[in-house]
Amino acid sequence: MEKINSLTGMTDLIETKADEDVLANKVFQTEKILKEIFTNYAMSEIRTPALENTNLFKRSVGDTSDIVNKELYTFSDKNDKSITLRPEGTASVMRSIIEKKLDGETHKLWYLGPMWRYERPQKGRYRQFNQAGIEILGYPEGAPEFEMISLICELNRKLQIRKPLIKINHLGDSSTKKLFCKALVDYLTPMKSNLDEKDLLRLDSNPLRILDSKNPNTIEILKKAPSISDYLQDNSKELLKSIQELFSDKCEIQIDFNLVRGLDYYTGFVFEAISEDLGAQDAYLGGGRYDNLSAQLGGKDLPAIGMAIGIERLALISYQENKNRTLISFIIISSNSEAKAYKISHELRSINKNIDIDVQLSQGSLKSKLRRANKNGAAYAFIVGDDEIESETVIIKPLNKEDSDQSTMNLNEIENFIKNLS
Ligand code: HAM
Repeated sequence: MEKINSLTGMTDLIETKADEDVLANKVFQTEKILKEIFTNYAMSEIRTPALENTNLFKRSVGDTSDIVNKELYTFSDKNDKSITLRPEGTASVMRSIIEKKLDGETHKLWYLGPMWRYERPQKGRYRQFNQAGIEILGYPEGAPEFEMISLICELNRKLQIRKPLIKINHLGDSSTKKLFCKALVDYLTPMKSNLDEKDLLRLDSNPLRILDSKNPNTIEILKKAPSISDYLQDNSKELLKSIQELFSDKCEIQIDFNLVRGLDYYTGFVFEAISEDLGAQDAYLGGGRYDNLSAQLGGKDLPAIGMAIGIERLALISYQENKNRTLISFIIISSNSEAKAYKISHELRSINKNIDIDVQLSQGSLKSKLRRANKNGAAYAFIVGDDEIESETVIIKPLNKEDSDQSTMNLNEIENFIKNLS
C-alpha cells in the first residue's frame, strides 16, 4: 500500500528519551521554560480557536501584508463561509477580548500553539510552526514596553540563547507616520525605475515596508533616504534610549530606525530579536504596540503591546542543560503476577517527583529490556520477577558502567533509595 506523507513544511515533533539534541526535545523543553517565565511575569493563559473568519486577518494583519496577500490557508467550509487557519495569534486574542466584552479592562495574556503560513520552507521556516505569544492590553506606552524587553532578556538568559541581539524602533504616532511615509515616497518616486516589482507594489500600498527590502539595489538607494528619526517626537526617541540604557547590562539592544514589521497593525514601539546563528530567517521573536487594533475590530479604544516567539527557531539557538531528572526503567519478567509488579511501580512513582519511571510494556527477554533501558538513557533498571514478587523485593541495577553491581532491596529500602535520588 502506498504510504501517505505529511504536507510540505509541516513537521512532526516526536520526543525521544535519550538524545537531548533532537529538535522535538528542545521544542518541548523550550515550551516548558517559556510557560515558567510567563507565570513569573504574572500572565494568564488564553487559548483561541485555530480557525477564524478570514476577514479578521484582512482587517488586522492587513490587506497589503505578505501574510494576507500570499500566505493564508483560506478555504470555504461546508456552508460556503470563508475561513482561515490563523497565521498569528494577536488578531484572535483581540477578537476574543472584544467578543467577551473584556475590552474595558487591563489584561496580561500568553498563548502557545500552532500557526499556519503558506511560505517557502527553509531552515527555521515552516508552513505550520509553533508560536508562544504575549499580549498586554489596556496600558498606554511606558511600563509595558519595559516589561516586554525585560521578558526577552529573561528568556535569552534562561534559554542561554546564542548571540542574541534585540533591535528596537518607534514608528511614531499617526501624523509622524504619515509625514515620514510621504517623505519616503517623494524620495523614492524619481527612482522608480531602479526598484523591483515587489518594492514598486510596496511603494503604492505600504511604503514603510520598503525599508525591509532584501534587494541590494534598494538597500543602496535607501542609504540616502529620509529616516524616521528625523520625524520622531522627542519622547519616542527618549523611550528608545531609556530602554537601551536600562537593560544595557543584561542584553545587547540596538536602535534600528529601519526596523519595520510585516503586519499592518503596529503603531509605536516595535522590536525584533535576532541571532546570526539562525541564518536567513534570523528573527526568533518580534512584536510591538498596536493601539488601534481594538477599535479597528469594533471594540473600545484599548492600547496594547505584544510579541510572538517562534518556538522552533528559539529551540534551534537555545542551549538547555540536562534537567537532571532520573529515569528508572521498570522491568517485569513475570507473566503470572504482572499485576502485582505494576502495583509496585505505581507506588514508587509517588515517592519522589524528580524521578521518572518507564515501565517496559513490551514482552521480551531481560537482555533486550536492559538494552532498551540503556538506549532510553535510564540511570537504573528495577527488575521484578516471580522470586521478587514472592519476597516483596526488587533488583536494582545501576546502568552506568563504573557502578554496575546490582543489589536486591526490600520495599522499605527501595523507598529510601528513591527518596535520596535527585
Ligand atoms: P511575526 O513577526 O510575524 O509576528 O512572527 C513572530 C515570530 O514567529 C517570528 O519572529 C518567527 O520567529 C516566528 N515565525 C514566523 N513565521 C514563521 C515560519 N513560517 N516558520 C517558523 N517560525 C515563524 C507576529 O506573529 C505577531 N502576532 C507578533 C505580535 C504579537 N505582535 C504583537 N503581538
